[in-house]
Parts: sequence; structure tokens; C-alpha cells
Amino acid sequence: MSPATRYRAFPPIDLPGRRWPARVITSPPAWLSTDLRDGNQALFEPMGAERKLRMFRMLCDIGFREIEVGFPSASKTEFDFVRTLIEGGHIPEDVTIGVLTQAREPLIRRTIEALRGARRAIVHVYTATSPVFREFVFGMQRADVVDMTVSGVRLIRELCSGQPGTEWVLEYSPETFSATELEFSREICDAVVDAWGATPQRKVILNLPATVEVATPNVYADQVEWMDRHLARRDSVIISVHPHNDRGTAVAAAELALMAGAERVEGCLFGNGERTGNVDLVTLALNLRTQGVDPGLRFADINAIARTYEACTQLPIHPRHPYVGDLVFTAFSGSHQDAIRKGMAAQRPADCWNVPYLPIDPADLGRTYDSLVRVNSQSGKGGVAYLLEMSRGVVMPRRMQVEFSGAVQRLAETTGSEVTAEDIWRLFTAEYLERTEPVHYIEHHLFERGARQGVRLTVVVGGTQRVLEGTGNGPIDAVIAALGIPVEVQSYEERSLNQGADSRALAIVEMALQGVTGSTFGAGIDANIVTASVRALMAGLNRMLARVGAEERRHFLAALAVPGPAAERVA
Ligand code: KIV
Ligand code: ZN
Repeated sequence: MSPATRYRAFPPIDLPGRRWPARVITSPPAWLSTDLRDGNQALFEPMGAERKLRMFRMLCDIGFREIEVGFPSASKTEFDFVRTLIEGGHIPEDVTIGVLTQAREPLIRRTIEALRGARRAIVHVYTATSPVFREFVFGMQRADVVDMTVSGVRLIRELCSGQPGTEWVLEYSPETFSATELEFSREICDAVVDAWGATPQRKVILNLPATVEVATPNVYADQVEWMDRHLARRDSVIISVHPHNDRGTAVAAAELALMAGAERVEGCLFGNGERTGNVDLVTLALNLRTQGVDPGLRFADINAIARTYEACTQLPIHPRHPYVGDLVFTAFSGSHQDAIRKGMAAQRPADCWNVPYLPIDPADLGRTYDSLVRVNSQSGKGGVAYLLEMSRGVVMPRRMQVEFSGAVQRLAETTGSEVTAEDIWRLFTAEYLERTEPVHYIEHHLFERGARQGVRLTVVVGGTQRVLEGTGNGPIDAVIAALGIPVEVQSYEERSLNQGADSRALAIVEMALQGVTGSTFGAGIDANIVTASVRALMAGLNRMLARVGAEERRHFLAALAVPGPAAERVA
């Protein structure tokens, strides 16, 4: 900012007893999409007929019942598109198209001509009303602006009466309303209502744009409530708002304006539009949805809508754009991941949505839960555990989560990039499942010895195959006895990984070695649960032996070399 440039604060609105702060939005507004007009005029390359039609169809599918389709007096392309819609029968019965025009006679005539044959149409006329436009842009007095506007409205009325087959709706925008003196906005709006001959049955839409967002959203709300209170024939008017996003608060401005009495909102998908854009209707609608208000717009497959939007506008959507960005349902931080995992587990289908860090159920937007948790060097055990469970069905005991997340963390730090579910699975496999050295498990056979469980275990140690025997209370006990190593199993968990006939079992064993501090985990997967357990035990043993010094390892392995009779190796 140049140090010489000075700015002034927007003056407060005199609105004693303002009511909007205490109001709650309980029903959706009427929505108007101006994607094909305000949005389109702001593109590097405005949409051609084909892209406009594609966008129009999508807007109808989303549920928009009022769509501003262009500025037909501005160019032949714009005019022809309106004709294509009407003549091609593309406008659904319950959809009303709108078009914009300036209040100048030739433009109005061309506009009404463009709409010939429409079942219902909104003629949207605008004049700029703020002092800066009156004084510097047009050199007009207030009265001149009123005259021009009223003449335009009268002409529209006259031309419309010449095409009685169409149900006509008038919309008037005092352009730059948010920077216009409120008394003047009221004066010109009241004049328009009279000139149109509006009644409660045939209302005028008075659209109050924040053509440029110049103040905090509460100021806009005050302006809207002021109009709501002061318009002469409020019962014959629909108050509409059209916030732009220059200060980044268009959504807030629209929400507060609805609390202040607005009944209709104009904007664009994902906030497209001049400069910083029009208000984002997707965010606005989904904000309502998260407050339990059905917005009447459907975003059940928001990704498909986003891709069509990008194809039509050639504009990308930011990865952190509310509700739709690629990253908005993703947590990287460990504490967030942990909270999401717990919240998701506690969420019951019949209850109101109440998951930490997620204001909306991604499934409502057709988004999967797959990317909820992503792991980088900031992530904790919760995220790692979540990904392993979601991608492979592996549920790790808590202490194992702590142990394993350390390994994932090291990987993330080494690579400096995100660790995917696939990476985590590879690491889990290498760390816990494929630990075959120094004791390589080959096979085992169970047998009964009286009331006890016996096992014959074949392993390879140092290149030599050994067959060991042991008995115990159960298979694991018996294997430990066969090994002849002072191992104690501290916890044991098993679960099925898949459903159905090809179901495989995962066993996780936590074990301690006498004289060695701490415990170690091992895991095994097999179609047979006992085999899975034996594999888990062997993997855990190998991990344990990797932790001890060479001398100690030799000592323990020597026990395996003692071939003593099975009876001697009793747990
Ligand atoms: O932003 C604006 O004021 C407009 C008007 C033409 C409604 O787009
Ligand atoms: Zn606009």
C-alpha cells in the first residue's frame, strides 16, 4: 500500500433497536444463480453457447428455480443464447430465466425481444446510485438517476404488455447500493415500485447489491433492515441481496442480510464473479444445511458439480474451498485425527451429526471418508491407526499404535512428504508381519498329549532346520514351550480381516522376554487362526531378539539348539 493513500471508515448506520442480531434463519431464501451473467462476464474467456447450456442444465439439476442467463443486449452471442434456451425448449416448467439490461431504450427493446416466447421471465434493470457514480462516472443529479430509472421501468412495462403470453417479473438493482445514501436508495426503489404498478400479488424484486463490499457485514445487514423498515410498499416487494466478496465476507454479509429481512439471494457457484466474486451460493446453502435448514439445493455429488464448473469456467477450485476443496475433509494433525476417529466411531446414524472438526457429513456431499485422515510428519498415532483400519481392517492395540506411529513418523520425516495408506501398510508388513530372522517359521502341527496341547514346530535358525516340540495349555503356550525361550505373552488379540469364505485372520501378540525391559508386538495373518497366532508369536520373537545385544541373542538362540524330548519342554 502506498503510504500516501488514505482511507476512511464506513460510517455507522443509524438503526435504533436493530432486530437482525437476534434473528435465526429458519428457512432458505429464494436463490438466483447469476453464473451465466455476473459469473460469465468475469471469465478470461466467457462461456460459449455449449458451455453455457451445460452450466444451465447443471444449475437446473442443482435446484435453482431462477437463473440469470445473460445480458442479451450486450452481444449477439448473449442474445442468441437466450433464444436457444427458449426456442430449444431447454427451460424446465418450474424454472424462470432472468436477463440484465441497463435502463436505456434501445437496450431495453432488444432485451424484451430476446425474451419473446418465454413462459415466465425476469427483466432485471439497473442504474448506479452511489455518489461516486453520480458525480464522477455519469455526472448526474439524484433526480436524473430517478428519471432515467423510472423511464426505463415504464418502457419495460409497456413492452411487456405487448407480449402478454409471458408472465413478466421486474427486478430493479440500485447498483452500488451498499455505498449509496439510504434515503436515496429508498426514494428510487419506491419510484420503481410505483412505476411498475407492483401489488402484493405482482411483486417487484428489489435487489440490493453490495456491488463492491465496502464495510463489515453488520453494516450491510443494517442497510438491508433499514430498507425493510422504510420501503413505502414493503408488501409489494421481494428484497433480494447480491453481495460481492471484496472484503472476503460475502457469505457472512448474505447471512446477516437474510436475518435482516432479505428473502432472496443472488450469487454464483463457488463464488465466481467479478473481481473477488459474487457470494458463493454453495457455501451459503451448505451453511444452512449444517444448521438443520434444508436449502432446497442439492449437492449430493459435489465433486461432479465442481468438475463441471471447472470445465465450464476454466477456473480451478482452491483445495481449501469450503465444502468442496480437495483437502477440506482431511486432517493432518495428530490430535485432529484422533478426535475425528473417536467422533466417527461414536456417531450413530439416527443422531444429529456431531463429529469433531467436521461441520458436515462428507457423505452428504458424495465425498468418501477415505481422505479424512492423511498422514505427514505432524500426524499422530490416531491418524495412522485410522488409515490402517480403514484401508486394511487392522485394529491395533493402543500401545502398538504408539510404537508403530513412531516408525511412520520417521518415514514421514525422511521422505518429507505425505505417507499414504499404502505406505503405512507396507511399513506395517515389514515391521510386524515379515520378521523371519533369526528364527524362520516353516510350519507346525498340533497334537494332543493327554489333556494338554502339543505342538511340533519346524523352524530354520542360522541355515539349520530344527523341529521343536512343546506342550502347554493351548497352542501359543505350547509353541513358547517348544522354543524354550523365556517369553511371556502379555496381550493377545485376533480379528477377521475380510468377510466371507476367503476370510483371513489377523493375530497380534504383545510379548516380553525375561530380563529385557519393555514389551514388543508381533503380528501374523493366515486363513487359519492358530497359524496366524504362531506367525505373530514368531514375528514378535524376532523383533524382540533384534532389540537385544549380540551376546544375549546368542544365548537365547542356543536354547533352540537343545533338541531335548518334548516332555522336557513343558510350559
Ligand atoms: O454487482 C452488481 O451490482 C450487479 C448488478 C448489475 C446487479 O451485478
Ligand atoms: Zn454483481
